Amino acid sequence: MLAYLNGNYLPLDEARISPMDRGFLFGDGAYEVIPVYSRRPFRLQQHLERLERTLAALQLANPLSKEQWAEVVQRLVDDHGSEDQGVYLQVTRGAAPVRDQAFPRPAVTPTVFAYADRLPTPSAELLAAGGTALTAEDFRWLRCDLKTVSLVANVLLRQLSAAAGCTETILLRDGLVMEGSASNVLVVQDGVILAPPKSNLILPGVTYDVVLELAAANGIPTQVRPVAEAELRSADEVWVTSSTKEVLPITRIDDAPVADGRPGPLAARMNALYQDFKNQVMRRADA
Ligand code: PDD
Repeated sequence: MLAYLNGNYLPLDEARISPMDRGFLFGDGAYEVIPVYSRRPFRLQQHLERLERTLAALQLANPLSKEQWAEVVQRLVDDHGSEDQGVYLQVTRGAAPVRDQAFPRPAVTPTVFAYADRLPTPSAELLAAGGTALTAEDFRWLRCDLKTVSLVANVLLRQLSAAAGCTETILLRDGLVMEGSASNVLVVQDGVILAPPKSNLILPGVTYDVVLELAAANGIPTQVRPVAEAELRSADEVWVTSSTKEVLPITRIDDAPVADGRPGPLAARMNALYQDFKNQVMRRADA
């Protein structure tokens, strides 16, 4: 598998960074995961803009222009064997000679890493049965809007549901639904999609935006507003969305069924809209 590291393309298993890299020592860096369909990156500009916002908040200059990022992504995609892929991008503040939390002075060269892998979208069986979730109190920091590689809180929260054999952990803060450990959460009540508003407490998901755009374009009502834990538990449908999960219905939460415990009709409709949209904008006519 091909990787890009600091200007060079090389096999992933030959890519090396310093143990003094601040990504390794402090989680001091930004990342993105971009889905690729039929070898075409989906919503690339939006992912690159979110990367730009994360880097700006980390006070890190973007080491590559949008055009350069697009070139790196396309080269990795072209080299990979699968039509559908997930491209991972990461920028860290680089390796400094001494371990000090403060930014290195003089600044060091950022580490830039990218590779393409298969896209782990939900299987047909998982989509048909729906996923399962646990809830947990969100104990992450107050900048969940940044896509940083400091993910140990997400790791611990995701592991709660993984250990219980569940698909995702749904995070609650002060009695409100935030998002999943690696996804956004949408709730359906009486035919209306309820979407927790973007804030410093959730990641502004690219898939979340696509779903709300598709809802608007197809006359499905939405409300972007805080969603209470009680609304999650009494919902008609609960979905998690992400670049890799796309739109996945959740049919059990904390061992209680969501409504009748089967994926709901709006999830099926939204999934069809999402797949159509992908096919229209991404798939080659001959694919
Ligand atoms: N995660 N919220 C969190 C905490 C996430 O980590 C993700 C994505 C999302 C959904 O964002 P998007 O729709 O732009 O993928 C929401 C990626 C897939 C990951 O870390 O692997």
